[in-house]
Amino acid sequence: MRPPNLCTVLRVLLVLLLCAERCVAVKWLALYRIKQRPWETTRNCTRSSGLAARQMKLCRDNLDLMSTVVHSAMVSMETCQQQFADRRWNCSSILRVPSLPMDLVRGTREQAYVYGISSSALVHSISRACSIGVTTKCSCGVLPNTTPTGNFKWGGCGDDLHFGLLFGEAFTDATLRNKKGKVKTSKKAMMNRHNFRVGRKVVADSLTQACKCHGVSGSCSIKTCWRALPSFDSIGALLKDRYALAVEVRRKRRKKMKVLIPIHKGRASFRDDELVYYEKSPDYCSPDSKTGSVGTRGRLCESSGWGPGNCDSMCCGRGYNNFTMEVTERCECKYIWCCYVKCKVCTKLLKLSQCR
Ligand SMILES: *[C@@H]1O[C@H](CO)[C@@H](O)[C@H](O)[C@H]1NC(C)=O
Ligand SMILES: *[C@@H]1O[C@H](CO)[C@@H](O)[C@H](O)[C@H]1NC(C)=O
Ligand SMILES: *[C@@H]1O[C@H](CO)[C@@H](O)[C@H](O)[C@H]1NC(C)=O
Repeated sequence: MRPPNLCTVLRVLLVLLLCAERCVAVKWLALYRIKQRPWETTRNCTRSSGLAARQMKLCRDNLDLMSTVVHSAMVSMETCQQQFADRRWNCSSILRVPSLPMDLVRGTREQAYVYGISSSALVHSISRACSIGVTTKCSCGVLPNTTPTGNFKWGGCGDDLHFGLLFGEAFTDATLRNKKGKVKTSKKAMMNRHNFRVGRKVVADSLTQACKCHGVSGSCSIKTCWRALPSFDSIGALLKDRYALAVEVRRKRRKKMKVLIPIHKGRASFRDDELVYYEKSPDYCSPDSKTGSVGTRGRLCESSGWGPGNCDSMCCGRGYNNFTMEVTERCECKYIWCCYVKCKVCTKLLKLSQCR
């Protein structure tokens, strides 16, 4: 047998390398690095800021929305790290965008969460931006055409979810088309596309009613209500539940179409608010560059308690060290008439534990 042609080997390697770069559809999260800069000219829409080719066109056409897109990148990264602060996998790898480590490109549950949260943060931020008048492309959300029950009327300015969903889908899914504009059908692209959709669905489903009272001295004789989105924290928490219940899938050819189906025999399909993944996650206990695990050595943990942040679970049975740390803070603050606050400085001893 002939040894494989060197040229072929190099070409395969090149494709793999390019894919590691290109097959990341949340590169735009790297926009968080330029949070303070204004978007003034279409020349600002560059690939180096993290935008994919098709997103650059959206950027040029929607310069007035770009600082909102940047804001949503920051919100999704902060929320992800908050939600996973007491887990072995704590979402720290997301800070490395645009080059993501393996935990976020292999098709894992963690990747599913990151795609879901980024898509929902985008929809949430854009819908909100509409109602506060950031752009002329959208404004207040449409009011329900049902007659209100109870003593209120529709009014005020609701979040424009409709526009948020349209823009969000156009922006996130722009990364899932190839050069010619064809929808990508790799297993990874299908998973990412679905999880982007889950992010939008979770936001859409959480639209609720907010009201404001009018009338003499808080009597609330007149109430106006509108449709508003909840704080993004609650959406981050909802998606965390979806993460726990994520469905493992595989790809199958059905007639001439490729589809994702649950690997579990008892289930025929999954819903459009369920995150999906196809690669099992490691336990994230020790460092492993193949899976992108950084390990939990040195992580702080709870020496008492039963949560996932407790030392037994966080340190994977390797044990932990107790130590104390002195922190100084302002305390016993008093208001002095008029007009300042006087505080003492206290030192406190914190008892902490850290994984070996
Ligand atoms: C856009 O370009 C201007 C002028 O070159 C620059 O000052 C600004 O920081 C850029 N903004 C971004 C977001 O890159
Ligand atoms: C998250 O994990 C990384 C890696 O172990 C660690 O460096 C970082 O401090 C952790 N972040 C938090 C908020 O605990
Ligand atoms: C650390 O401190 C906790 C109580 O604060 C104690 O129960 C535990 O045994 C200590 N562990 C080690 C390894 O010193």
